[in-house]
Amino acid sequence: MKNITLSVHNLKKVIRGKEIIKGISFELKQGEVFGFLGPNGAGKTTTIRMLVGLIKPTSGSIHIGGYNIVDHFEPAMRNLGCIVENPELYPYLSGYDNLLHFARMLEAIGEERIKEVTELVGLTDRIHDKVKTYSLGMRQRLGIAQALLGSPKVLILDEPTNGLDPAGIREMREFIRFLAEKEDLSVLVSSHLLSEIQLLCDRVAIITKGSIIRTDSVETLLANRERVVWRFQPFERGKQVLSSVTSIEETEDGTILTEFHETQTPEWNKMLVEAGVSVMEMNRKLPVLEDLFLELTGGNKIE
Ligand SMILES: Nc1ncnc2c1ncn2[C@@H]1O[C@H](COP(=O)(O)OP(=O)(O)O)[C@@H](O)[C@H]1O
Ligand SMILES: [Mg+2]
Repeated sequence: MKNITLSVHNLKKVIRGKEIIKGISFELKQGEVFGFLGPNGAGKTTTIRMLVGLIKPTSGSIHIGGYNIVDHFEPAMRNLGCIVENPELYPYLSGYDNLLHFARMLEAIGEERIKEVTELVGLTDRIHDKVKTYSLGMRQRLGIAQALLGSPKVLILDEPTNGLDPAGIREMREFIRFLAEKEDLSVLVSSHLLSEIQLLCDRVAIITKGSIIRTDSVETLLANRERVVWRFQPFERGKQVLSSVTSIEETEDGTILTEFHETQTPEWNKMLVEAGVSVMEMNRKLPVLEDLFLELTGGNKIE
């Protein structure tokens, strides 16, 4: 079994009399990318600020690398790299000098490690240029290089793709996966974007209004959730045929949704044709977390 690198137990945060985080628990395993998914205001950043020691939990416990962050703050933080909101960088210094500056604040980080993290984040060619000439994606990667200087076991990124263009988002996603695999890092990534988490993460915790409503592997969350979009004529006759064999859902644009089954779906198609219905479209629809989220929250829309 993989090591647990970060564990959170019954964590709560009350701010000015209001319970913002309502007793959440989850664990990260070594080498996995764990998604923290929830709409704006759900409590992702507040949780992350507690994990990285920026604010104090009201109650509950956090262990990083086996150390309780209250009793053993220093060793716990040595196991952690993070970027909360935006990386803190000096725009008028080169990437290299930024790293050098942060390396001096840590123990025993030599030039060798600076070179290593620079290569890891793919900035070797540009590392001596001033940070103000970097693209947003490059700044993010430099921020991650900085977070990795101390060889942490856990990396925490709060909405790392915010503000990036689609190409930048894809690059960041591939990069985070690469890091988890190459460095055997646990990465906690928060996001309000379902598609993002779906493509990036091994497991996901869905958070809304300060509570985690479900934690599972992305695979499990999406299993048996494939649908088929049907378009046919005559409509009423087709509906009759399909609803006699499976449950159907009518959409606003005049199509019908059913479940997808490897063996039964072609049979349904055959039944339609035999009943004199022309099938114009029969489209397998990949599952999205959005549907799941809507179901779990009873229509609480994300984004
Ligand atoms: N310092 C604070 N004082 C009062 N309310 C806060 C504070 N920080 C966060 N909140 C509230 O806590 C909730 C969760 O915020 P946040 O953790 O930033 O959500 P997310 O990162 O998921 O968008 C929001 O309703 C926010 O207004
Ligand atoms: Mg946030």
